[in-house]
Amino acid sequence: MLTTDDKKLIQQVCERSSSHLEQFGAEALERMFTTYPQTKTYFPHFDLQHGSEQIRGHGRKVATALANAAKNLDNLSQALSELSNLHAYNLRVDPINFKLLSQCFQVVLAVHLGKDYTPEVHAAFDKFLSAVASVLAEKYR
Ligand code: HEM
Repeated sequence: MLTTDDKKLIQQVCERSSSHLEQFGAEALERMFTTYPQTKTYFPHFDLQHGSEQIRGHGRKVATALANAAKNLDNLSQALSELSNLHAYNLRVDPINFKLLSQCFQVVLAVHLGKDYTPEVHAAFDKFLSAVASVLAEKYR
């Protein structure tokens, strides 16, 4: 359950990151593909080389979806409903992978925020990304 303080921290970080969405998203994807190579099987049609146009474009889409979710923290199910359908019915992404990408996003934030990535920010993002992952996986039931 996100507290009022968690929500503030999440929104502050998303606002600060708003001009770097493509970069942060692409870095998170590259980390996921490198650290958990099995995730690459969902992207056979992508050029997965460092800095590819597809990684940057997809990074922007994923990070923008997260920033949008951060503006709808009281309404995540509705805000992510279409993405949930897409990942469950069309893409059939095994929900275990959501945790892997979340983990990579946390590392990207830590790298870029440095000392501002406090334990409180870490905890707030952990809850936020877990909540996003639950919504993206809820259609699998
Ligand atoms: C597509 C968001 C996790 C695989 C997308 C799109 C978004 C998105 C916004 C584009 C939808 C569109 O074009 O309409 C997210 C978010 C995630 C997440 C917010 C979790 C935080 C994952 C994971 C995988 C995955 C973990 C697999 C390891 C895909 C694939 C596509 C896609 C294969 C289609 C790519 C294409 O062909 O363009 N996702 N995603 N997603 N996602 Fe995710």
